[in-house]
Amino acid sequence: MGFSEEVRGAAETIRNAETVSVISHIDADGITSEAIVRTAIARAGVPVTSHFVRQLEPLTMKAVPEDDSLKVFVDLGAGQQNLLEERGLSVDEVLILDHHVAQPCETPYQQVNGVPYGHTKLSAAGVAYFVARELDSANVDLAKIAIVGNVGDMMARETLGLVGLAAEIVEDGIAHGSVLAIRKDLNCYGTSTRPVHVCLSYNDDPRIPGITNDMRGAERFLSRLEVASKTVDGRYRVWEELGRDEKKAITSALVQQLLANGESVDRLFAESYIFVDEPERSPLRNASEFATLLNACGRWAKPRIGSSVCCGDRGTVYREAEYMLNNHRTIIRELLGFILETGVTELSHLQYLHVGDRYPDTIVGIGAGMALGKLNWRKPILIMCTLPEDPTLTKVSMRTNEWSVRRGVDLQAVLTLASGEHGGGGGGHPIAAGAFIPRDAEEVFINRVNELLRDQLA
Ligand code: C5P
Repeated sequence: MGFSEEVRGAAETIRNAETVSVISHIDADGITSEAIVRTAIARAGVPVTSHFVRQLEPLTMKAVPEDDSLKVFVDLGAGQQNLLEERGLSVDEVLILDHHVAQPCETPYQQVNGVPYGHTKLSAAGVAYFVARELDSANVDLAKIAIVGNVGDMMARETLGLVGLAAEIVEDGIAHGSVLAIRKDLNCYGTSTRPVHVCLSYNDDPRIPGITNDMRGAERFLSRLEVASKTVDGRYRVWEELGRDEKKAITSALVQQLLANGESVDRLFAESYIFVDEPERSPLRNASEFATLLNACGRWAKPRIGSSVCCGDRGTVYREAEYMLNNHRTIIRELLGFILETGVTELSHLQYLHVGDRYPDTIVGIGAGMALGKLNWRKPILIMCTLPEDPTLTKVSMRTNEWSVRRGVDLQAVLTLASGEHGGGGGGHPIAAGAFIPRDAEEVFINRVNELLRDQLA
């Protein structure tokens, strides 16, 4: 069976269901997947309810309703089929729409997953989108939300744009009229909402000497090019609203700066995705900023707010999402300050810090990613924190950058292996990964991670 047959089969299963329960993950990909699936199912006239979990594990299985509904697991489930089996779920009451590596399982649960067919750059929101489009071709309006999920799950990062089946979704979005793909845009986060100099100075992919981590340097750079940083009414301008010539002047100067420093210009440009039906300078205006808003909702236990925004809510719910985003940013800034002030311990191939119970485990990884650019960016960073709900466990988050990944670092492989040796579990991506380990294994674990990183770089 191929991917398309799996998609058709899933649509058939949904059409035949009396009621559906969607079980999804709280990150941007999970929230967008849920919004897509729920919308498509409701449009097909099948009653549907949703349930979000931080991770599918024995403790969170109680979120899965014990009723006769079809359970549609999205952005999770493939790797936890044993839990579904243990729960006694039968073949005909489960459908899995996922993009994680599937776990061998006795019960042949119905699944749609691009990974076995080599579609490794398609997130769960992409899988959900193809099922939705199969249910009704009018569901192409959901392409935009699928793009947010794919970008939020870093499907575009390595390849500097969405590729393969995810690029097909982009084409659908363009044809629908809600999506604009800018082929060779600046590869930078915050192009719709951040002042240009802030945007440039926060960017470390590629690192630009004199600009990365240097807001004043970035401001001087813009004024040398005579690009006005503010509008006539005194508001900072964002990248998206600069004129073509201004953008060209900036990127040409960045190219020169990189070349002068012997750096590659390969990662300076990337395809970006603008949503023309969203207001300019709003966090919903482009895919990566939209994904951050959803992550802010999910990581602070309000995934439903994010989901409503995906489904078009722009009233009080959207204001709540904006509040979540601002609050998220404030606390991440605080966490970043804490990491930098406290300092990390450096080993030969790793830098690490334990933040105790000061910050929730859902955000330490984000703080780690931001701190990396300001610390020794050549060494992957690992942050640990305690879990208030289980004092015997430690949550570990690791982050690195493209520079290290190109040299062979794969954090997902490191954490899966190192946590597995202590009966813990981990996963993620080469550039960002997380794990849970027993608290009493922390020290041995850290040294093992350092050793594995050394081996990867050998
Ligand atoms: O939690 P954190 O932000 O550090 O997670 C980074 C990545 O690792 C995410 O993609 C997350 O889904 C994944 N992860 C995982 N298993 C864990 C923790 C995190 O697959 N136990």
